[in-house]
Amino acid sequence: MSKQRNILVTGGAGFIGSNFVHTLLESNEDLKVTVVDKLTYAGNLKNLERWLNDKRFQFIKLDITDKEKVLDLANQIEINEIAHFAAESHVDRSILGPEEFVKTNVLGTFYMLELGKKLFEMNSLRVFLHVSTDEVFGTLGKDGAFTELTPYAPNSPYSASKAGSDHLVRSYFHTYQLPVITTNCSNNYGPFHFPEKLIPLMILNCLQGKSLPVYGTGENIRDWLYVKDHCLAINLVMKKGKFGETYNIGTRNEKTNLEIVNLICDLMDKKHPEGKPHRNLIKFVKDRPGHDFRYAIDPKKIETEIGWKPIYKFEVAIEETIDWYLNNKVWWEEIISGQYNQYYELQYKEAN
Ligand code: NAD
Ligand code: TYD
Repeated sequence: MSKQRNILVTGGAGFIGSNFVHTLLESNEDLKVTVVDKLTYAGNLKNLERWLNDKRFQFIKLDITDKEKVLDLANQIEINEIAHFAAESHVDRSILGPEEFVKTNVLGTFYMLELGKKLFEMNSLRVFLHVSTDEVFGTLGKDGAFTELTPYAPNSPYSASKAGSDHLVRSYFHTYQLPVITTNCSNNYGPFHFPEKLIPLMILNCLQGKSLPVYGTGENIRDWLYVKDHCLAINLVMKKGKFGETYNIGTRNEKTNLEIVNLICDLMDKKHPEGKPHRNLIKFVKDRPGHDFRYAIDPKKIETEIGWKPIYKFEVAIEETIDWYLNNKVWWEEIISGQYNQYYELQYKEAN
């Protein structure tokens, strides 16, 4: 097996996947990265623009539910590591239309595992890292935190489809000895976050003077993880993790949704005073059906067994995130105006 890391990243044009590609290619490691991505509404080649002409990088437009094309990757390119991010990822969309979630998250992961098995049989696969979520554990009350031993109890079609994929991954270790590892992380935030999720939506609505929809009372709690810390953790787990194991990733950073929205408003008052006071834009709206009350990660296992620790402080990283949106107006304007689809097509032709 080649010493060089030849890493296949699925969903690498999305939020976390593209940040992961940046982490890899910014490092001094000897590696090659191939991104496969369907470029759904959430995928954006612009997230990877800086690498399009880099010899260590290639992009292949591919739907992971296309079994033949997925399995054919084993004949087309050298792969010894897989980082599997591709998924439908938004809970609200899963409530409105669960089918795509079952197709991509369950069936797509199954085909990716089949590809992994084929590579493993060719003596080529070193590790298959499956990126999952803490939402598979369901909801917490006021106390406690999810550990790797917490039983699965998914509540939304999104989390149920991710739970299904996690179980398939587990079974490929026990049945076929595939070198799989699963990570279950908490809510991410940072650059390139698609503006349907809480943090980027609130930032962009503040900038546009639009109302800030807070579901229910705003007392629901999420445990926020900076995407750059997450990507460093994944890279470390790929190198040091034990096959067949799962690792929770989080930074003990619980906030109520209202705390997050108020903080964004106050920072926007400083950075974009025109719309001041932004808190006036907050609007409490009908709650999400089946809305999980609280998520919280206990990261002891990854800290003690892998030696991972976050390097970013929330107060700094949230400002960095807001600044990124302020400095990347073209990126989000293309998305919210619908022009990004045209951009994909153009770039896709050029990239091939
Ligand atoms: P995202 O929605 O921003 O990106 C998903 C990417 O997958 C997009 O580029 C999209 O085009 C691609 N994709 C979707 N369907 C595909 C298909 N059929 N074939 C190929 N590509 C396809 O999601 P994200 O926030 O970057 O999440 C990445 C992974 O991390 C997901 O597996 C998600 O479940 C998990 N996760 C995310 C969070 C979070 O806070 N964002 C938290 C926990 C876990
Ligand atoms: P979201 O970013 O969709 O992530 P997830 O549902 O995977 O946790 O939502 C984060 C929290 O913010 C969640 O409790 C729902 C809430 N929320 C709002 O209050 N308003 C919104 O407009 C959105 C998108 C989310």
